[in-house]
Amino acid sequence: MSIPTVEIAPSVLAANFARLGEDIAAVERGGARMLHVDVMDGHFVPNISIGVPVVSSLRKATTLVLDVHLMIAAPERYVEAFADAGADMISVHQEATPHLDRVLAAIQERDIEAGVVINPATPVAALSEVLPAVDFVLVMSVNPGFGGQKFIPGSLEKLRQLKELRSRYNYDYRIEVDGGLGPDNVAEAVRAGAEIIVAGTSVFHTPDPAEAVRRMRQMASEALAQKV
Ligand code: DX5
Ligand code: ZN
Repeated sequence: MSIPTVEIAPSVLAANFARLGEDIAAVERGGARMLHVDVMDGHFVPNISIGVPVVSSLRKATTLVLDVHLMIAAPERYVEAFADAGADMISVHQEATPHLDRVLAAIQERDIEAGVVINPATPVAALSEVLPAVDFVLVMSVNPGFGGQKFIPGSLEKLRQLKELRSRYNYDYRIEVDGGLGPDNVAEAVRAGAEIIVAGTSVFHTPDPAEAVRRMRQMASEALAQKV
């Protein structure tokens, strides 16, 4: 077993798209090693965000791990394009495709980490058939589509369940949580089992995004030290 770590993954959805490069440089200074990229199609979720060209540009601008969260219907249509654009991790929603196993395999065939995402109304049990194969599981702690929403406390129980299933069956996925996270609840999420914490508003809508990442990383590692 490798040394446990927690990553803060700033969500570019909350960044200033007119100066994305500077915002990314700031979170790099704060110690971020990942960047969370929200792709929305106005169909699976009621909002439209960014797509393949932005991921390509990000790839040229940073060496951070690009964690691409596809909130799109039938994501199997776009795995190839996001892989070519330079994604390191791609996650797809359980609710978005009847071909979940196929799309996860297609992601891994490209040597990209494959993640499955569940909405707040979807139980962990819906993932039983894919948990042995996925590289990470993303628990939505808000309804997907918008930044700046309030964390849904019931998500903590899902994180605990995923941790417990992993140790019971010896699975090796990482556990990620997304939505409404910040200094007030990062420790709680880590203690429940989260290893990747997505944070948009609480990083980029602050006067000092570098400091916001630094502070949350610190809180996360303290919580981890208490846990183990
Ligand atoms: C919501 C997105 C999130 C969002 C999180 O649909 O998946 O990644 O950017 O934003 P905050 O941290 O503001 O809740
Ligand atoms: Zn996201």
